[in-house]
Amino acid sequence: MIGKFKILLIYCLSIVSAAHYVADWKSIDKRPLPEWYDNAKVGIFIHWGVFSVPSFGSEWFWHSWASHGKSYDEFMNKNYRPDFTYADFAKDFTTELFDPTEWASIFNKSGARYVVLTSKHHEGYTLWPSNYSFNWNAKDVGPNKDLVGELAEAVRKVGIRFGLYHSLYEWYNPLYLRDKKNNFRTDDFVKSKIRPEMEELVNAYRPDVLWSDGDWEAPDTYWNSTDFLAWLYNDSPVKDRIVVNDRWGKDTTCKHGGYFTCQDRYNPGVLQTRKWENAMTLDKESWGFRREAKLEDYLTIEELIYTLVKTVSCGGNILINVGPTKYGKLVPIFEERLEQLGSWLHINGEAIYETKPWIRQNDSISSNVWYTQRDYHTVYAITLGYPTNDTIVLGDVYYNNIKSIQLLGANKLVQILPAIQDGTMIKFPDLNPNDKARYAFTFKIHYKQ
Ligand SMILES: *[C@@H]1O[C@H](CO)[C@@H](O)[C@H](O)[C@H]1NC(C)=O
Ligand SMILES: *[C@@H]1O[C@H](CO)[C@@H](O)[C@H](O)[C@H]1NC(C)=O
Ligand SMILES: *[C@@H]1O[C@H](CO)[C@@H](O)[C@H](O)[C@H]1NC(C)=O
Ligand SMILES: *[C@@H]1O[C@H](CO)[C@@H](O)[C@H](O)[C@H]1NC(C)=O
Ligand SMILES: *[C@@H]1O[C@H](CO)[C@@H](O)[C@H](O)[C@H]1NC(C)=O
Repeated sequence: MIGKFKILLIYCLSIVSAAHYVADWKSIDKRPLPEWYDNAKVGIFIHWGVFSVPSFGSEWFWHSWASHGKSYDEFMNKNYRPDFTYADFAKDFTTELFDPTEWASIFNKSGARYVVLTSKHHEGYTLWPSNYSFNWNAKDVGPNKDLVGELAEAVRKVGIRFGLYHSLYEWYNPLYLRDKKNNFRTDDFVKSKIRPEMEELVNAYRPDVLWSDGDWEAPDTYWNSTDFLAWLYNDSPVKDRIVVNDRWGKDTTCKHGGYFTCQDRYNPGVLQTRKWENAMTLDKESWGFRREAKLEDYLTIEELIYTLVKTVSCGGNILINVGPTKYGKLVPIFEERLEQLGSWLHINGEAIYETKPWIRQNDSISSNVWYTQRDYHTVYAITLGYPTNDTIVLGDVYYNNIKSIQLLGANKLVQILPAIQDGTMIKFPDLNPNDKARYAFTFKIHYKQ
């Protein structure tokens, strides 16, 4: 018996290690997504860079200013000397209060299972001492630190996976602009900068996620994306666990790669056939920190949990963005949202992590109920907000098939009654006012065997 099992095991392992990918989408798209990713469900996105110095408008500051956005011209004319350049901001990217252990602890408390940091945004400045970004990196100008390395270490220490965002294009890199002028018939920028830079990043920091971006002006053939991904999947040190997204060239988004991100804040509200991610922001207007943001520009905890629940019900992961300050702190509004999320997940995480979409995503009668499932006999109905009359109708949960229903965090079986269309009416158990104020409630439904 054991002998046979061993032979089978060796056979299976040899199939896995024999998988070899070639540089075309047909082959690249066949790679199964490493399982940890779908199970994780919740990640934190961090947009940090030289744009965090002006921290005005958005992380597209340089581009907006260079294209003479009115408020940007006004901001610069009012506050900076006439010959000030974008590069002059870099020395003020000081990060003097950056404590990676503190960030890791905030992320861990939020319940997130992975973190994705902008290693390089469209401005081209690298948060690690890259050999391909001379004097335009966090070691040479600004912090004088390896921000990628420091955060990677702290995040992994608390048991969270570490991923990296990387922008393919750089707005004003002369090599890129030359290729662009040649209608991307030349690829000097990719050959001498992007490819070696991405390999350096992967070899040095061994990310669990590589979140590609800035791909949309040029075709994936210019970026040589399938060749890079074949290397990543066949030969890189992270070949068995790395997860990538779909932004690898102007026609690849929502079509090719690893999981789909489609567009920013993608949240289709219906079940998707491919694994996908909702990359969204706590500041509705910006990914980078913005000093002028008002309280109402930030998502409330109810909005955040609503977005999370809807996303996971439809098969997605959520990647929640925060923009740290140039001095290296997360402002308290971000910390508070993440802390509230963590306290909700502490009770309701069972209905989120390691779940699968159910046969129905949202209830056909109660518009604020979304479903997930653990296995065939265990389904979760998550209802957003406390109902006015203490009852909720689940139109898609057939009363006759139910064994019992439990409210997570309440340790009491709830009262259930038949409702219209074979559905089920649930009466909430008595809750104290604190528990009633919980942003969303999870009913764990046990079906008869
Ligand atoms: C840059 O190159 C030097 C010399 O080869 C090497 O020691 C260093 O690790 C490289 N940096 C990165 C981030 O890989
Ligand atoms: C991280 O969070 C988990 C779950 O809340 C907790 O059990 C664990 O102790 C935390 N780890 C660290 C290192 O803080
Ligand atoms: C793609 O990258 C490979 C490996 O570096 C190289 O041999 C090939 O010429 C590149 N293709 C293009 C179109 O640049
Ligand atoms: C379920 O969600 C879909 C997509 O978000 C929406 O169109 C539909 O109206 C919802 N159904 C109910 C009953 O609320
Ligand atoms: C409570 O309100 C819901 C929705 O308005 C309604 O369908 C249900 O019949 C009400 N339940 C009771 C017991 O009145």
